[in-house]
Amino acid sequence: MQEKYIDETKQGEAFAIAEKSGNSKKLFLESYGCQMNFSDSEIVASILNEQGYNTTLKAEEADLILLNTCSIREKAEQTVRMRLAQFKNLKKERPNMTVGVLGCMAERLKTKFLDEEQLVDLVVGPDAYRDLPNLLKETDDGRDAINVILSKEETYADINPVRLGGNGVTAFVTITRGCDNMCTFCVVPFTRGRERSRDPHSIIEECQSLWNNGYKEITLLGQNVDSYLWYGGGPKKDFAKASEMQKLTAINFAQLLDMVAVAVPNMRIRFSTSNPHEMTEQVFRMIAKHDNICNYVHLPVQSGSDRILQLMNRQHTRQEYLDLIKKGKEIVPDISFSQDMIIGFCTETEEDHQLTMSLMREVEYDYGYMFSYSTRPGTPAHKKLEDDIPVDVKQRRLAEVIALQGELSRKRMQGYVGRVHEILIEGTSKKNQNQWKGRNSQNAVCVFDKLEGQKLGDIVSVFVHGNTQGTLLGETV
Ligand code: SAH
Ligand code: F3S
Repeated sequence: MQEKYIDETKQGEAFAIAEKSGNSKKLFLESYGCQMNFSDSEIVASILNEQGYNTTLKAEEADLILLNTCSIREKAEQTVRMRLAQFKNLKKERPNMTVGVLGCMAERLKTKFLDEEQLVDLVVGPDAYRDLPNLLKETDDGRDAINVILSKEETYADINPVRLGGNGVTAFVTITRGCDNMCTFCVVPFTRGRERSRDPHSIIEECQSLWNNGYKEITLLGQNVDSYLWYGGGPKKDFAKASEMQKLTAINFAQLLDMVAVAVPNMRIRFSTSNPHEMTEQVFRMIAKHDNICNYVHLPVQSGSDRILQLMNRQHTRQEYLDLIKKGKEIVPDISFSQDMIIGFCTETEEDHQLTMSLMREVEYDYGYMFSYSTRPGTPAHKKLEDDIPVDVKQRRLAEVIALQGELSRKRMQGYVGRVHEILIEGTSKKNQNQWKGRNSQNAVCVFDKLEGQKLGDIVSVFVHGNTQGTLLGETV
């Protein structure tokens, strides 16, 4: 899940600081992959904060090194392997240091990790973080420790995440875990288990507490937020077995959005990720109803060809997707969309590729996340289909799709010029210390000169007078 999906090349940064006085042990925690992993790391830091660990940005002073890993593409796994190799010398110097692997790679490789990587002492899957204190007792005694049991219930609802190294303005709030969709290319259902929704009361409490602590924007997170369904029971799959009362009082995603928007009326609300086959008109109506829900939807499609969509088990057609986009544009006139695309999936022809490009032109996405198909062991596509598109063809098609998205992004950014936008100040521009950066409701990044009296977290009216391919240029009015 991606910003919306965070490109693996850009990440791996360790972020501080979870400090509790009296804690003497040091934890170096680095996250890879999607926003969910970054959010999970905040839960891990919170659990370990209670176990005597404060976070550090310096691996060389750590007692415990944890990498929260991603398996979505082979390259993501290679990045983690390379990072582990860098810790080898450190471990020689500090033999008492514990090195652990969390997240999707831990879940996928299980004990193999302990066999393959001599360096690794600890392997913990995404549903087993509560067991970390026990597992660390084992590693303290010199034994390797592993827990990769997937849960049907775990949502960490009662754990108050420690906010790691953010800007103090924007935060993630997890609402569902796991995924039941079984897209044929995707490893997530295997690494994150069955889909389950978090108790809405705990979601609202977390949102209110964020607001009381100065946060101005939240992103509700899930592999598949539209499939959120709270009925007081376990996994969504068991909803049919729920009691009449549970069925009557169940809460879906649109209703949750409504509740959150009312509970924190001045908080900006975003959500990610939506799945086209589960997203409903009701969600667009909620965006239209509440000013504080942003006019932006990340709506991955993966391909513009019906034949490929079917091979991917995406459960919707090109036309259904386009109809959904059309509905969104009707209900929320200034809505923006972004995409995920997989280029060069098994059997993809030049014609399929052209269908992807024409779909992109039709939707006019603000931006997107495009990657070559990477076959993942254990997935249905890996078992049943041949990864038959040559690397050079994948690369050429990917370059074409990225170039097209560049054109579309520039065009969309131009469309924002000449108007005033409400921008949430999220930090200082990387390129110019005298400028702020922030985003408008549609999630477009805007930079503008700092004025006296403005501060981080303010929402300011900015007149946009120009743009680059991906950024709006403006000035405060
Ligand atoms: N439900 C989440 C999906 C997480 S995976 C979401 O929609 O955000 C995030 C993205 O990674 C997917 O949308 C897809 O575009 C990409 N992806 C997943 N598996 C892949 C694979 N095997 N090869 C290339 N890209 C993949
Ligand atoms: Fe993966 Fe499809 Fe779920 S992309 S996370 S199986 S919606």
